[in-house]
Amino acid sequence: MPSLLFSPLTLRGLTIPNRAVVPPLCQYSAVEGIANDWHMVQLGRFAVGGFGLVFSEVVSVLREGRITHGDLGLWSDDHVAPLKRITDFIRRQGAVPAIQLGHAGRKGSMQRPWEGNGPLGPDQFARGESPWDIVSAVGKPIGEGFITPAALDAAGIAAIVDGFATGARRARAAGFDAVEVHCAHGYLLHQFLSPLSNTRNDAYGGDLAGRMRFPLEVIGAVRAAWPETLPVFVRISAVDGMDGGWTMEDSLAFAAAMKRLGVDVVDCSSGGIGGSATGSKRIPRGYGFQLPYAEEIRRETGLCSMAVGLIIGPHQAEAALADGEADLIAIGREAMNNPNWALMARGVLEPGSTEDVFACWPPQHGWWMEKRAAVIDALGPPPG
Ligand SMILES: Cc1cc2nc3c(=O)[nH]c(=O)nc-3n(C[C@H](O)[C@H](O)[C@H](O)COP(=O)(O)O)c2cc1C
Repeated sequence: MPSLLFSPLTLRGLTIPNRAVVPPLCQYSAVEGIANDWHMVQLGRFAVGGFGLVFSEVVSVLREGRITHGDLGLWSDDHVAPLKRITDFIRRQGAVPAIQLGHAGRKGSMQRPWEGNGPLGPDQFARGESPWDIVSAVGKPIGEGFITPAALDAAGIAAIVDGFATGARRARAAGFDAVEVHCAHGYLLHQFLSPLSNTRNDAYGGDLAGRMRFPLEVIGAVRAAWPETLPVFVRISAVDGMDGGWTMEDSLAFAAAMKRLGVDVVDCSSGGIGGSATGSKRIPRGYGFQLPYAEEIRRETGLCSMAVGLIIGPHQAEAALADGEADLIAIGREAMNNPNWALMARGVLEPGSTEDVFACWPPQHGWWMEKRAAVIDALGPPPG
C-alpha cells in the first residue's frame, strides 16, 4: 500500500518525490561562508538516505548577517560553485536540493553553540575570530554582555532586501530548486516581526502591518528573484511563547499576506526571540509539539505547511499527513541520529518483500542489504 509520506508533492513546476524533509541544520563549519566537504557529507548522506527534500542550513545573504564565523554564506559569487557541487550530488540521488536564506541581525557575531552560544570571547579571538558590527530593528542587545546592534535605517533595510534577492539569484545559480526565507528563531526578520524586539515608531514598526513590512519586502524580493516555476518557503516562529510577544493570530495574518505575495509553503516552528529556539523550554515540549501550528496555518490560509519538531517515528509522520496537519514532514535531529531515516520509514510504512524494500535504496547499499536481510531471516534475531 502506498503511504502518504512516500507520495510525491508538486509545488508549481517542481515535484518533490516524497514528503520526508531534512530541515535546515546549521553546522557552523564553513570558513568565510564557503561550503566544504563537511557540508557535502552532511547533506549528501540525507539524499542517500531517501529524503525527498534536503534543506541546507541557514545561508547568510550578507557577511555581517552570519550567526558565527562558521556560517555558510552567499554574499559573493565565489560561494556558488562549492554549493553547486553539493546540489548536483543531492539531485543525482533523486532528492530535491533546497536552501534557507537568512540574516542573524542581533543574534550575529556569536560563539558556536558548543562553545557556549555567548558573545565572542578570548578563545575565539585567539584563533582570529573577531567580533563584527551587527544590526537589528532597535539598538537593544540580545542579552547582557552581547554586542549592541545598530538600529537599521531605510537605506540599511533596502540593502538587506537587495541582499536577499541577490542571494536568491546566486542560490538558483548554485542549483537549488526551492528557497526558504528564514523569518523564525529570533533572527533579523523575526526581530522586526515581534513586538518584543521591534519597538520602532516609524513605518517599519508600531502595529502589525508596520512590523511585517520589512519581512514582506524581503519575501516579495525573493519571490521576484526566484523562478516562477519553483516554490518559495518561509519559516516562521508561529508563536514567541512570551508575554506580549508574537501570537498565532499574528502568524495567520502574516501567512495571508505571504500568500498574496506568492509564497507556497509555510514552515512552522516556534520561539527563539529570547534565546535559542531549539534549546528553549519556554514552549512546552512534546512529540510533534509544533504540529498544531502547521495544521492551523494550512486550515485557515489554504497554504501548504511543513511541520517540524520532535517528529520521530514513521507512523507519527504518516498520521500527521493523514490528519491534514501538514503537507511536508521535517525530521531534524532524528535524521542526524539516523541519516537513513527515510529509507527505514519507507520499509515500515510500505512493508513488502525484502526485495521491494531494498529496491528503494541506492543500489550501492541496497543490493547488499537485501542479501544480508535474507541471511538474518534464516539465522533469527542477532545476538547482543
Ligand atoms: C544542529 C541544529 C542546527 C539547526 N540549524 C537551523 C537553521 O540553520 N535554520 C533553522 O531554521 N533551524 C535550524 N535548526 C532547527 C531545526 O531545523 C528544527 O526546527 C529543530 O531541530 C526541531 O526539529 P527536530 O526535533 O526534528 O530536530 C537547527 C537545529 C539543530 C539541532
